[in-house]
Amino acid sequence: MEYRELAKIAIKGLPLSYAPYSGFNVSAALLTKDGRVYHGVNIENASFTPTVCAERTAFFKAVSEGVRGFEAICIVGCHHEQLMTEDYKKGILNEWAPPCGVCRQVMREFCDPTEFKIILARSEDDFRVFRLEELLPESFGPENL
Ligand code: THU
Repeated sequence: MEYRELAKIAIKGLPLSYAPYSGFNVSAALLTKDGRVYHGVNIENASFTPTVCAERTAFFKAVSEGVRGFEAICIVGCHHEQLMTEDYKKGILNEWAPPCGVCRQVMREFCDPTEFKIILARSEDDFRVFRLEELLPESFGPENL
């Protein structure tokens, strides 16, 4: 699957984000090595700390169904008001949504950091691609134990 298609899925899924407290919507499309896509959004909570990020929602959906091989994840985000704009209807966002440190560590658990790609997108034509090891250098993973 092409990265632009993955970005399209992530952008389209943004309205499913449940973020009434921060007003910041995040959506992630996780591509497996055999070509399946698991989608996730951030899910906030009135008690704040139970909040889960979009990336971890996507990973945990996949892992809980037995998937272990991952190729890439595309992450998008925007402030809630942006979803009402003409730009959003055209699939255009005005900010990047880099993954938090906890999500990078969860990726590290299931992915080869030299190969797994993290795609930050603002539209299907405007994205940046990183390898996990670039965003989480000198990391600690399963091989360390
Ligand atoms: N968030 C994500 O979903 N992914 C990240 O990697 C960064 C932060 C969410 C959590 C919270 O619901 C909102 O963005 C503001 O922090």
